[in-house]
Amino acid sequence: MSAASYFPQDIIIKKRDGGALTRDEIQFFARGVASGQFADYQATALLMAIFWRGMTPQEVAWLTDAMMRSGEVIDLNDVPGAKVDKHSTGGVGDKVSLILAPLAAACGVKVPMMSGRGLGHTGGTLDKLESIPGFRVMLSVTEFRDILRKVGAAMIGQTPQVVPADRKLYALRDVTGTVECIPLICASIMSKKLAEGIDSLVLDVKFGQGAFMKRKEDALALARAMVEVGRAAGKPVRALLTAMDQPLGRCAGHTTEVIESIECLKGRGPRDLMEVTYALTGHMLILGGAARDEADARAKMEAAIADGRALTKFREMCAAQGGDARVIDDYSLLPTAQKRLEIRAGADGAGFVSAVDALKCGHAIMALGGGRAAVTDKVDHAVGISDLIKIGEPVKPGALLCTLHVNDDTKGAKAEALVREAIAFSAQPPKSTPLIQDLIQ
Ligand code: URA
Repeated sequence: MSAASYFPQDIIIKKRDGGALTRDEIQFFARGVASGQFADYQATALLMAIFWRGMTPQEVAWLTDAMMRSGEVIDLNDVPGAKVDKHSTGGVGDKVSLILAPLAAACGVKVPMMSGRGLGHTGGTLDKLESIPGFRVMLSVTEFRDILRKVGAAMIGQTPQVVPADRKLYALRDVTGTVECIPLICASIMSKKLAEGIDSLVLDVKFGQGAFMKRKEDALALARAMVEVGRAAGKPVRALLTAMDQPLGRCAGHTTEVIESIECLKGRGPRDLMEVTYALTGHMLILGGAARDEADARAKMEAAIADGRALTKFREMCAAQGGDARVIDDYSLLPTAQKRLEIRAGADGAGFVSAVDALKCGHAIMALGGGRAAVTDKVDHAVGISDLIKIGEPVKPGALLCTLHVNDDTKGAKAEALVREAIAFSAQPPKSTPLIQDLIQ
């Protein structure tokens, strides 16, 4: 790494005036942020300059690389097999990782997955896994490697040593209006993924009301930028663009999503959730050399679910990470809410479901206590939504729209109001839009 030294203000002025930064300047910035040599006020000034002026693809690749090298880059070379991960930009009811990791491992690729916690209306994989009594997500890199070698999939939280520059920069972006910036999002996500020691990566870039990116054009630009950064790093990356207008599957929350994921591994998953899971896992198998093409991948995945190998992998991973694997056969061992509140259509609820607003459903989960407004908040794993009706389904007055899992009546009433606002009806079946809208590679 370069030892070049600069005045932070010179780098800020260069970007402020629309210049392209050199590799050395970018390295100085990333290292300076991690070490404190680049003061917070200077880092935020540069972030704002990047927000307005943007970055060339080359600058984004250098920023990603410099951020990745600001901390530990995990070396998985001693774990045999192709190491392939998946990252989703997040959405409501997105529990794909819980199904995909054991499924891909059962089909022959290694899945070293480092995930985040939920913040705001989208849930986090780590929080969902922690609904399983005993499940440990904060493992050492040595444990991570061992489980990956023995089981084929390990799902853990980011260790503090990995990409410290991102932890600092993300916190600054969060409070300075610089989160929604494609070069910065791209470098933030890709630096963390490339630090995991992966050989290749599949991305699920979501767009729509319930997603981080509301507009398809922005999601497409982010997907292209991330694929490009992967190419620059010598790691094949494929990105799927998927719609997030309604929650994925019929459950949202923590325990409810764990149960739905286990149901998927038992071959009883809802259509939309399985469509996204098969598509993403399929590309992982192709990138990892475990399938020739999408048809071959699909046949292998269906076989692994039908004969129970994917479920066995989940059981093994759960046990290896300290979780009580008996939950797989007995859901009552998972945290259970005190009440179930059935939300039924009123007299106006006739015809077809025309909308199930994912953002409002996410807010309903937050209202129940199942979300996190600040990183320090505790989540209630037991609360959530199940049996959620889907867009296009016929409905009659009195039909079940969803079940709320509630631990507090006042919170339950707020959540009921939100899900009622989320669900709309039409006399005619709504036009269906494809869930998977593009593949970028
Ligand atoms: N997720 C990340 O990890 N980083 C971003 O900048 C945005 C979403």
